[in-house]
Amino acid sequence: MTELEELKQELKKLNTGYAKIREVPAEKRGEFGRELNAKKLAILDQIRVAEEAALDTEVEAIDITAPCGVNEKMPEFYSVLDGSKHPLMTELDRVISIYQLMGFDVMESRQLDDEFHMFDSLNFAAEHPARDGYDTFRTEEGLIPPAHTSTMQHRVLKTYKNRLAQGKEIAVVVPGRVYRNEDVDATHEHTFYQCEGVYVSKNCTMGDMLGILREFFEKYYEQKLNIRTQPGYFPFTEPSLEFMIEKPKALGGKKGDFLEMLGCGMIHPNVLKMAGIDPSEYHGFAWGGGIDRLVMLRYGLKDVRHFEAGNLNFLKEF
Ligand code: DAH
Repeated sequence: MTELEELKQELKKLNTGYAKIREVPAEKRGEFGRELNAKKLAILDQIRVAEEAALDTEVEAIDITAPCGVNEKMPEFYSVLDGSKHPLMTELDRVISIYQLMGFDVMESRQLDDEFHMFDSLNFAAEHPARDGYDTFRTEEGLIPPAHTSTMQHRVLKTYKNRLAQGKEIAVVVPGRVYRNEDVDATHEHTFYQCEGVYVSKNCTMGDMLGILREFFEKYYEQKLNIRTQPGYFPFTEPSLEFMIEKPKALGGKKGDFLEMLGCGMIHPNVLKMAGIDPSEYHGFAWGGGIDRLVMLRYGLKDVRHFEAGNLNFLKEF
């Protein structure tokens, strides 16, 4: 028996000693208890020391700054679970490749943005209450972790506008992480993912937009879907729509069970103008929606908080 095992046995014996306290005459119980406690503390102390010593001898120190491979010879009990891709990232890749197959370019969003890209460039009037609707976080310097991927619209338009002069169209999707200062519950997270789409050409229409969105959702869920739209309001699109799909039967949906998947609309002339695109010559449409919600529906997940919780039991399911 190792020293550590012996100490642990001793502790066990001592613990049974507590039951004997009832047999001790009342006037001696205090002393009996105090002695027992003191012994227990001493043994716990010895156990801690022995455990630390065991660790020192059993585990070779590793160089945590070393490049991959250098520390590979670790004791067996230290062998780590293989890491894997987070389910949201796997799904985001699927989302992106569907759009890429449809001819879209991809531009990544950012983790920190500013007032101009969050609001001004998207035609939010100064001091307009609609700005409050986005529950933005702010840094001490006044920067904004983006509350939606629409913060990238202005950059997409400016970066790609020379394509229009070449007689081509702008077709870009922007996946990104977004942040909102709101109460967290099963359907709301402070951190989630969105994917934005921006399309501009000489004569595109809302019909084209709905066709693209239908195609995307049918590819993503690998089945035909019923879609529906209803009017919405966003300062950066006019008209604006909320795009819904009927929850597929295979995913537990009933007839008429429509879910809102994203916001979309024809890009507001002011947004095009601010990026130096003439709205009398070009038209565009844009959309943006949550990736988490998309994935939750695909896998029948009920609680959005799983994605950010880092719970291995959840992650290993994928
Ligand atoms: N950014 C909006 C949101 O997060 C969604 C959205 C609506 C994006 C309309 C768009 C759009 O590109 O045209 O609530």
